[in-house]
Amino acid sequence: MTVIGVLGGAGTVGRVAVDRLARYGLGELRVGGRDLDRVTAVCRATQGAAAPVRVNLRDPRLLRDFCAGCQVVVNCAGPSYQVLDTVARAAVAAGADYVDAAGDLSAVEALESAAPPELGERAAVFSAGLMPGLSGLLPRLLATGPLARLDGYVGGAARISELSAVDALLTRGLRFGTALAAWRDGRVVPGALAPLHDVTLPGFRGRVHAWPFLSAEFARLAAELDVTEVRNYTVYVTDAIPHALAAAWADGGPVEDHVPAVVAAAEADLAATGPYYTLLFQTVPAPGAGTAPRRLLLRTPDSYALSGVVAAIATGEVLGGRVKPGARSAAECLDPAGVFARLSGDPLVTQAEIL
Ligand SMILES: NC(=O)c1ccc[n+]([C@@H]2O[C@H](COP(=O)([O-])OP(=O)(O)OC[C@H]3O[C@@H](n4cnc5c(N)ncnc54)[C@H](OP(=O)(O)O)[C@@H]3O)[C@@H](O)[C@H]2O)c1
Repeated sequence: MTVIGVLGGAGTVGRVAVDRLARYGLGELRVGGRDLDRVTAVCRATQGAAAPVRVNLRDPRLLRDFCAGCQVVVNCAGPSYQVLDTVARAAVAAGADYVDAAGDLSAVEALESAAPPELGERAAVFSAGLMPGLSGLLPRLLATGPLARLDGYVGGAARISELSAVDALLTRGLRFGTALAAWRDGRVVPGALAPLHDVTLPGFRGRVHAWPFLSAEFARLAAELDVTEVRNYTVYVTDAIPHALAAAWADGGPVEDHVPAVVAAAEADLAATGPYYTLLFQTVPAPGAGTAPRRLLLRTPDSYALSGVVAAIATGEVLGGRVKPGARSAAECLDPAGVFARLSGDPLVTQAEIL
């Protein structure tokens, strides 16, 4: 019997990953977290076989026991910039494949440096969430020929867990991306773009603020595609979150001190519009390409829950043998058309269209 371990399975992302894995009928679930009562409650609410396990990913022995016997380990615990490749290494050493709802390029590189020999036969998929994840995967559906422009707008209003707030505060520096930068003619151009304030955008509610951020994920995508210019924006419904992050970074000090301000800023956004999240990608074909401008729009009421759906879909792809061995991001190893089709049928997706 296939056993799928879900670490952090009682969390915001993990609960939905557990639910979808059970619905997809991919195997028996082993649901892990530090609080046994919480993972037990998740298992009771799950259709199908699910066993609760107390595990702290910082305890190597407990982590090893959790991974033993799993075909695949799905990590939904964080903060991802501290977890890095800890769980991936334990999973691969136990002979399991690995899927992480988070984990950036730094996590992929951490696993690849002094790569465990088992990685030659096991798949380790990082960034199997919404952003990073769908944000780097779905634009590929529009890149069917040479492009003059690719623009991405991802954002909305969502409650931020304390753990995710830590990740947001640590997502800083050139390893993660460059604020105000664009991609032009094969290179990152710093300071090329300005924030767009009080603008309307297809699929976003009312007026929004779009902050240019050429993420490492989007820059890798740009380098892969035949595209002259790429612009990527993170969209907020108010300026509360960018201001909270800027204040935290200016102040310095322990990252945990700034978590309440980031969580409160997200609550202020939620109060303004209610929960929603939108991914919007637009392309302009290169002159003479003979194709029309295109647009992809995907909307959900819950970006965290949708990340759990993406992690579950990625797990199905790994178990189905459709992901090659090695460490890579979901955007670079999943089939964009297949994932888009699965998402289109998920109740958490309220709009999915390609024009
Ligand atoms: N790619 C994306 O778009 C995306 C979107 C949202 C979130 N994320 C990422 O997904 C991760 C989870 O976020 P979340 O909002 O779901 O967080 P959350 O609600 O706080 O859930 C985290 C879960 O992990 C467990 N956990 C925490 N520390 C642990 C440890 N040391 N050992 C074992 N289990 C542990 C927690 O349970 P216990 O406290 O009982 O251990 C909890 O169930 C974060 O890294 C976040 O940045 C990615």
